[in-house]
Amino acid sequence: MKFHLKSSPGKVDVEVVPLTEEMTKVSKDKEVKALLKSKDFTGKYRKTIWLRSGGKRTLLVGLGKQNKLDEEAVRRVYSIVVSEVLTSKYKSFSTSVPTSKLKKDLFVGAVVESCVLTDYKFSKFKKKKEAVDEVVIVTKDRVEKIVKEKQTICENTLLARDWVNMPADVMNPVELTKVAKEVARKAKLKITVIDKDLKKKGLNLIDAVGKGSIYPPRMVILEYWGDNRSKKPIALVGKGITFDTGGINLKPTGYIESMKSDKGGACTVLAVMKTMAELKVKKNVIGFMSICENMVGRHSYRPSDIIKSYSGKTVEILNTDAEGRLAMADALTYAEKHYKPEVIVDLATLTGAALVALGEYVIAMVSDSDKYSDKMFKAGQKTFERVWRLPLYEEYLDLMKGDISDIKNISSSGAMGGRAGTITAAAFLKKFIEKTPWVHLDIAGAAWYTKQYYYAPKDATGIGVRLMTEFIRNL
Ligand code: BES
Ligand code: ZN
Ligand code: ZN
Repeated sequence: MKFHLKSSPGKVDVEVVPLTEEMTKVSKDKEVKALLKSKDFTGKYRKTIWLRSGGKRTLLVGLGKQNKLDEEAVRRVYSIVVSEVLTSKYKSFSTSVPTSKLKKDLFVGAVVESCVLTDYKFSKFKKKKEAVDEVVIVTKDRVEKIVKEKQTICENTLLARDWVNMPADVMNPVELTKVAKEVARKAKLKITVIDKDLKKKGLNLIDAVGKGSIYPPRMVILEYWGDNRSKKPIALVGKGITFDTGGINLKPTGYIESMKSDKGGACTVLAVMKTMAELKVKKNVIGFMSICENMVGRHSYRPSDIIKSYSGKTVEILNTDAEGRLAMADALTYAEKHYKPEVIVDLATLTGAALVALGEYVIAMVSDSDKYSDKMFKAGQKTFERVWRLPLYEEYLDLMKGDISDIKNISSSGAMGGRAGTITAAAFLKKFIEKTPWVHLDIAGAAWYTKQYYYAPKDATGIGVRLMTEFIRNL
């Protein structure tokens, strides 16, 4: 999709005219006036109406009440616009930029985000999709920078979606590492892959989770140094289970089918690292992708195994389906020990309980830092990749204490560690970080939609790319 900034629409298939309710009352446009007379269009939020005259096609779209207009309202409205244009098989449209309470650069930014994010279909295994090729933004304002920025961030979100949607027979640990290498090469990120040396280095939890697979597990580290090297970096850790069968505690039908999505955290981390480099963000950021395939096999780890983690603490495995926390734990300790970051943020499709608590529309956050979780909350409100914090009290940490090991991998509360599952999983992770402020984002719900919602498609959503970019830039 190409964006052009012009002072007039020029040659496009459709001219889109966004109007608030207040604007329809003072419109000078002849056709709009006629419509108003017939009361067909009053600028009501999300309402659209086509006008066709003399080969010219206009799409009027309602922005609603002027004082309610914010970036999210614009995103939602333009997801409707893009869908309408697509259904009519048009390839290009222009849009005017209304004068309203919402600053013009924010309006334009939200339009760009919505257009890129809505015009998406996972098409690797289907014939070419219909797409909007060109959007002309009619404005005299200097908004090039925001257009470029939003386009970069959102195109990288689409990449994250593609990587996650790619089935596990193709996107196995080896392939996902190849993708990371290719991204690193193009974006000039330093990349380190720890695979054969996992055991030698003591990254035994990552190793254990990956043992059942023919594709060896690995930890991929991506480094972006956009600021002075003396400044502490921000660490991002992503769960990259390319497929989660549950292991010996095999997942049942109805739960297993979408488990190619279990690499969502790692794919988001990769897309964020690419974004940092492309936007030349003035921060130091280190990305960790903990990549394994959780399979059933002769070499699989099993319930009752006791494994020594990278931190030195021993973990008793009581459920091989609680594998994400294991793969993440070693990466968290590694990040803290070797990079001494200012803050560690992890993104993981960690628990079904996150879906029970918040559904698909909100990310579950658990943190030991008021300061950084407040910042994350604000970034969530701004991008509308919203987060909601759950508590991490001592009681939850105690539930993870082992009987014959230091820690166990599921809590001792409820069947299969089911009570407060999102918090106890986070409590497990917390035990592998010593003193660095930490924000855990459980994206099990938000990374995968069962149904499209405005600019977020069904299946992989690429959640977290916009959120993390916003969070990091505001640190
Ligand atoms: N990958 C799953 C969590 C998940 C569930 C992600 C649904 C997306 C949608 C994770 O590895 C898992 O299986 N967690 C278990 C933990 C339990 C065994 C304590 C769960 O949530 O049931
Ligand atoms: Zn699992
Ligand atoms: Zn999992």
